[in-house]
Order: sequence, then structure tokens, then C-alpha cells
Amino acid sequence: MSRFYLTTPLYYVNDKPHLGTAYCTIVADVLSRYHRLFGDETLLLTGADEHGQKIQETAAKRGITPLEQCDEVVELFKSAWKELNIQYDIFFRTTADFHKQVVQKCLQELFERGEIYSSEYEGWYSVSEEIFYMEKDLVEGKSPTGRDVVKIREKNYFFKMSKYQQALIDHIEKHPDFIWPESRRNEVLGFLRQPLNDLCISRPKARLSWGVELPFDKDYVTYVWFDALLNYATGVGLKQPGREDEFKKWWSDAGAIHLIGKDIITTHAVYWPTMLLALNIPLPKRIFAHGWILNKEMEKMSKSKGDVVNPLDMKDYVGVDGLRYFLIRDVHLGNDAPFSLDLLFNRVNNDLANNLGNLASRTLNLVEKFFSGAIPEVGSPDSGADHIREHALMTPQKVQSAIEKMAPSQALEAIVELLNEANKYLEERAPWKLAKTDLPATATVLRAALEVLRFVSILLHPVMPTKMKELQVRLGSPEMSWKALSQWEGLKTGTLVKKGEPLFPRLELPK
Ligand code: MSP
Repeated sequence: MSRFYLTTPLYYVNDKPHLGTAYCTIVADVLSRYHRLFGDETLLLTGADEHGQKIQETAAKRGITPLEQCDEVVELFKSAWKELNIQYDIFFRTTADFHKQVVQKCLQELFERGEIYSSEYEGWYSVSEEIFYMEKDLVEGKSPTGRDVVKIREKNYFFKMSKYQQALIDHIEKHPDFIWPESRRNEVLGFLRQPLNDLCISRPKARLSWGVELPFDKDYVTYVWFDALLNYATGVGLKQPGREDEFKKWWSDAGAIHLIGKDIITTHAVYWPTMLLALNIPLPKRIFAHGWILNKEMEKMSKSKGDVVNPLDMKDYVGVDGLRYFLIRDVHLGNDAPFSLDLLFNRVNNDLANNLGNLASRTLNLVEKFFSGAIPEVGSPDSGADHIREHALMTPQKVQSAIEKMAPSQALEAIVELLNEANKYLEERAPWKLAKTDLPATATVLRAALEVLRFVSILLHPVMPTKMKELQVRLGSPEMSWKALSQWEGLKTGTLVKKGEPLFPRLELPK
């Protein structure tokens, strides 16, 4: 059996989730639901990045403690993920005691081995990114991503990141699957062509107290990224007595896949692997950087710009499943994609109300009307039905290989093609007319359409769990498994089906 260990970034808890952060989490949920459906043993880790200046400042502004801030926003994340039907296995909090202890163990080990040293440092600090820059890195007096920076001079501790530059380049070159998509891999290799600085991994408590204390200097806390990145490994047992087997199983054997946004590729594809190399811990299997959900101005939707969409509002318009479907179908994982109500409504109307919804309502309606709601026995042979069967039986393989290459939009394209074929077939045979003259031929047509619906109810389940469950109920609850897709005619003759209300009502854009 294969194993699939997927992680999302740990989200900063200075504010509630927005569509950008929900996007990554929904994609992660969909991918892991597919793997579960394939029969893989699956683990999905998400969570909250709770330390650092941003949280300390937000809490101070609100007159509460940082932990109160974290507890409050963690609840907002958890309830949003619940409403968006996200099935995670671990919700990781970096304030957990066991995590802080392991962070300290790692720091102590690196310090004792001389991989961490102290030095006077002068540089430019970006509060919003929590990253230090050298003078040469600045672009027009701002960070390379355009954030404000302030000049800082202080003693700090450094991790000898530069020492691992060549080993990291070698690893990336030897493992073409380590960084996906390829454009990001090239970007990281390009970055590594420049000399790599050592990494400042401490913050003086005088400036920032909200963090994991350095075990070898009580006046400092750990740089938030050094603390947060370790979660992916501490979450599955790193350096925790009694959890060795678990760690081996998920970290060393399965290998983690980190799904992240492209703006945090350097921390994940450079800082993190060099930390692991220094600690003699195996590297993750893959880092996959997705693109951005763009706002009306075609910029990254972000809290700092204020132009964010609340995913839970979208849910009220098109339902959770409609939103999930849109994000998987219209955003090619890895690319940027614009978001607007127009795009969302069009997609839901075209694919779900028209294509899938129509197939379901027409088919179930005709079974009710001409066969008293009981699935009829296949009647006269029909080459069109044979063709649909062939097409359907090939679709699971297409879906599986798209998911394995982390291209879920392609999986949906394959499913939509099958639906198109089935609707075309229905148009051609016009069972609503045929039924008046030839019931056995009508039965064949409807059986084929019902089987397509059964296939689709399983194939789309990871994307739209609620609606597809509902469709399965209407089909008389056939077996819901990947194996059930290896055979045609999984529905039993005589089973009662139910048309019900439209599964996806047509939507009107709000005025
Ligand atoms: N706390 C760090 C991650 C630490 S992981 C050990 C962080 N948090 S974040 O809350 O600022 O961002 C989390 C993720 O949300 C990032 O991967 C980022 O790319 C993603 N997104 C934020 N806005 C986004 C869009 N508009 N579109 C898509 N994803 C975006 O960074």
C-alpha cells in the first residue's frame, strides 16, 4: 500500500482565513481525499504558525496576550476548515510544548556541533515577512517583494546555511521531482547560483519575546521560520521518544509533500532542506508551490491589501461544494488565477447546473416516469451505450494519473469529458421520445446514463463530498469505492432511485 503524507503551510494567526489561505487547504484536502479513495494510507497536516513579531504586534494592538490571540484565531481557522469540509488529520500548533522542546533539541544539537555561531549583524529587517535582508538584496529601499524594511544592528545567532549550498544544489539536480512545478525548480536553482548567506536564527528578546527561547542563550528567542518549518517533522514524531516508528513511517519512508504558495518557496526549498541536511534528517519528498488567487486588480489577494474574499461568504452563494469545484477546476495548480463572482457563477452553472445537474435530473426523472423509479434491466444492445461504457471505464485511470502528478484540474477535465459524452448520447437517443415506442431501447440508454452518474458520484466525491453523497443516495447508495469503478453495471436492477430537487440549482448573479 502506498502512503501519502501531505502538508499545508502553517498559517499566521494574526487574522482569520481568507480565500487565498482557504485555497491551499482545499487543494490539500482534495488531493488527500483522492489518495484515500485510491486506498493509500493518507496523512494531512495543517495548522497555525503562532510565534513571531506579527502575532506579538497584533496582540499588543488588541490589548490581549499573544496566546489569547492565537487561541482565538486558531478557533476561527478550525471552524472555517470544518465549514469548508476539510478533513485534516493533524492541526498543528507551534505553541505546543512537545514542539517547542524538539525545536530546542535541534538548536542545541546544532549549536554543540558548531553549526550555529554568534555574530554581530547589520541588516535590513522586514517585519511583515519576518526576514532579514542584506543591503544588496533591497530593491528601491524595500524588500525584494516590495515590503518596508528597517535597519537593524545587533548580536545574533546564525546557522551555517551556506555550508550546505552545494549539497542542496546536488540534491535538487539529482531529484527532478523534489521541487514542482519545473518553473519553481529553475527559480530555486537560479537563486542558488548566487552565494548563499548564513541564516540568522535568533531574535533578541528585547525586541521580540514571543517565541521559543534559545536553549543556549536566555536573552534570545528562535527565528519564527526556524521554529515553524520544523513542525512538518515534529508533527510526525521527530526526536520524540516513543514516536520513532511513526517518524520512520511518515517522514523517512513515505516522505512529506509540502504544498505551499510560491511566495514562500525560498524558506521551504532552501532554508528547510539545509536545516535538515545539518540535522542529518532525510529531506522531504517534494515541495510543490502553487500560484496565487488574484483580486480584481489581478494582484495577489492578501490581507495587507485588504481586498480579500471571505470563503465562507462564497459558500453562501454557491455552496461549499460549488466553491471547492471552482477552485480545483479553474485554477491550474501551480498557476495564478483570477477570482470573481462572475467566474465562479459561470463555472458552477456550466459544469454543475447544466452538465452534471441536467444529466442527473433528466435521467432520474425518466426512470421515475417510465420505470416507476426502479432501475430497469438493460434492454436491446446499443453501440452508443458500449461507447459510453468504454469511455467511463478509462476515466478512473485518467483521474488517478492526473492526481498523482498533482494536476487536479486535469482530473476534472477528464470527468467533464465523460459527462459531455453522456449528455450528447442522451440528446441523440432522446429517451423521452424513445420511451413512447421502445421501452427496452430506452432502458439501455438510461442504464448507461445511470452508470455514468454512479462513476461520477465516486470520481467527484473528493471535490464535492456532500453533493456526491447526495447523488449516491438518489442512485440507491451503490458501493462507494475506487474498486467499484473497475466494473460497469455496479447498480442493481430494481433498485429505487429518487429524482429529488435539482442537485445544483441554476444561479443568478446577485445584483
Ligand atoms: N506562516 C507562514 C508559513 C509557515 S509554513 C512552516 C505563512 N503564513 S501565511 O498565513 O502568510 O500564508 C500561508 C499561505 O497562504 C502561503 O502559502 C501563501 O502563499 C498562501 N496565500 C496567501 N494569500 C494567497 C493568495 N491570494 N492565493 C493563494 N495563496 C495565498 O506564510
